[in-house]
Amino acid sequence: MIFTQLNPGSCRTYLIADEKSREAFLVDPVLEQVQDYLKTIEQQKLTLTQVIDTHTHADHISGGATLKDQLGCEYTMHTNAPARCVTFHLPDGFECRLGNMPVKVLFTPGHTRDSVTLILPDLVLTGDVLFLDDAGAGRTDLPGGDAGEHWDSLQRILGLPDHLMVYPAHEYRNRQPSTLKQQKQRNPNLQPRSKQAYRDYLEGLKLGPAEWMKDVLKANYACARDPRAAWIPVDVPACEVKGTLGQGANDQLVAGIPPDQVKRALEGDNPPLLLDVRDPEELTGELRHIEGIINIPVTELARRLGELEGIQAREIVTVCKSGGRAHTAAQVLMQAGFPKVHVMVGGMTAWKQAGYPTASQ
Ligand SMILES: [Fe+2]
Repeated sequence: MIFTQLNPGSCRTYLIADEKSREAFLVDPVLEQVQDYLKTIEQQKLTLTQVIDTHTHADHISGGATLKDQLGCEYTMHTNAPARCVTFHLPDGFECRLGNMPVKVLFTPGHTRDSVTLILPDLVLTGDVLFLDDAGAGRTDLPGGDAGEHWDSLQRILGLPDHLMVYPAHEYRNRQPSTLKQQKQRNPNLQPRSKQAYRDYLEGLKLGPAEWMKDVLKANYACARDPRAAWIPVDVPACEVKGTLGQGANDQLVAGIPPDQVKRALEGDNPPLLLDVRDPEELTGELRHIEGIINIPVTELARRLGELEGIQAREIVTVCKSGGRAHTAAQVLMQAGFPKVHVMVGGMTAWKQAGYPTASQ
């Protein structure tokens, strides 16, 4: 078997080929690299029969549609994949054949609802369902992501043979592939936890997709063939949990204050600034918002810090629906050097429960 990773950056594209028949599969191709792939395929005298995307990507535009057009190969994804240009949908348990070798499809949702893991005789392509070592696994807060389903999928992967080498769809820091046995020891997401404990663990890390990621998803749903269909920042660890945060922000310890204390402080002589980090449409939704807030969604906060210039010394209380995003936002602010930052514990849900006043405009 020929097995090569083709990309220079953090997205991983794997070429798998049968030496005898020269038949080849390409897994998770990136649109911008298609010309390079075509050259490699030609140089190695291979026939590309199938492109497989392990899931709908949010961080790069797939080369699947273009390769299908140019080479007439099959473009396959899981049954749940929405892209119309997919020529064959892979159900759970399906076995593709590459020469004489089986490539088995394991349905492993959680990062997205169309994620699959591909099992070959000696290796496993985990997509974004499982990364290497301390990188853990792909985030579950993108559209279609679900922490509980992700836990189920990880249990399925844990049941695979220990000797399989693990090859993920991303590697942001040049960690080297190792066996599933080693990943069971090293990978934090594979440590024994109940489903609820896993959900809680990921809830605290929730960030929500950045705007540009939503555009990339749309481009992939629409089978874009133009690399300019969506703007993509270079090599941001976007599919990693907290991938859109700056380095070091994850380590900041944040203090929480309960809603009654926030209310008292707002009525005092030196009221804190309330920074509501929910999406704008949530401010007029069921939970409404607290009068006088500044609204910057958490996914935009790192690049909009300039808007808080001049008030850095003031106490800032971050607010969201239940506290997860506000916690992340507080970490971003502390990492940027804001000295007095707190999180309102329980978010607007707790504020409303306490019966405190809200505004809708
Ligand atoms: Fe992904």
